[in-house]
Amino acid sequence: MIGLRGNYEGIGADFVVEQDLAAYSRDEHALFDRLLTRQADLLKKYACRTYREALARLDLQGGVPDFVKTSVALSRATGWNIVGVPGLIPDDVFFNHLAQRRFPVTVWLRTPAEMDYIVEPDVFHDFFGHVPLLFDPTYADHMQEYGKGGLKALRLNGLKFLARLYWFTIEFGLIRENGAIKAYGAGLLSSAGEMPYAIADTKPERVLFDAMTTMATPYDIDRYQNTYFVIDSFEHLMAETAPDFTPHYAALNAR
Ligand code: PHE
Ligand code: FE
Repeated sequence: MIGLRGNYEGIGADFVVEQDLAAYSRDEHALFDRLLTRQADLLKKYACRTYREALARLDLQGGVPDFVKTSVALSRATGWNIVGVPGLIPDDVFFNHLAQRRFPVTVWLRTPAEMDYIVEPDVFHDFFGHVPLLFDPTYADHMQEYGKGGLKALRLNGLKFLARLYWFTIEFGLIRENGAIKAYGAGLLSSAGEMPYAIADTKPERVLFDAMTTMATPYDIDRYQNTYFVIDSFEHLMAETAPDFTPHYAALNAR
């Protein structure tokens, strides 16, 4: 499976590749399990309830999960499917998948040396971080709206701003739950270091989520965030991102 890392040879316009389950080595399945076990303890304390419940329903415990099996369960629950991809894909292709309720999941797994930190998304980040919440109807709808919004942002010179919103919500978002702050962002849920930092450390700021503010906030991809944005519920996230962003993009581009 290592050979598949970043291999785009002969790829079609949708960038989809079949997940060849038999191609993962025993060491890779074992590494996936180790990543899973390490996160499991942290999740109890730091992950939002919706995520924990969905993850429990997925019942992961035998190495790298089968995308087809997961898609069957997911399409029954919310009409989403997951598709395999060889790594990062062009923005328009990514948005098109989301707009059609398909979530692209990288097929290859990191190496043991990358256990703590990986520059690009792998199957652990994509699957473990992003897929469980797609079982939640509101979150699932929001992700599709984001995809449609992405295609629109490409036409309106808004990609840079919408990418920031994605970063501060879908990747590093926090949610208030019974007075406590929990993680729902995939970058946090799949990270052993940043999830506790985001929630329990005194250094970062935690502010109420506001779409326009996130779109005006630049981010660094190679360090923990200085600021995390907190939503009240997925309905709150949905409502904040529902308005037409056309004037937002115009205003941000004029700054
Ligand atoms: N409402 C945004 C627009 O009009 C699209 C969007 C939806 C963005 C959901 C993010 C999340 O462009
Ligand atoms: Fe991600």
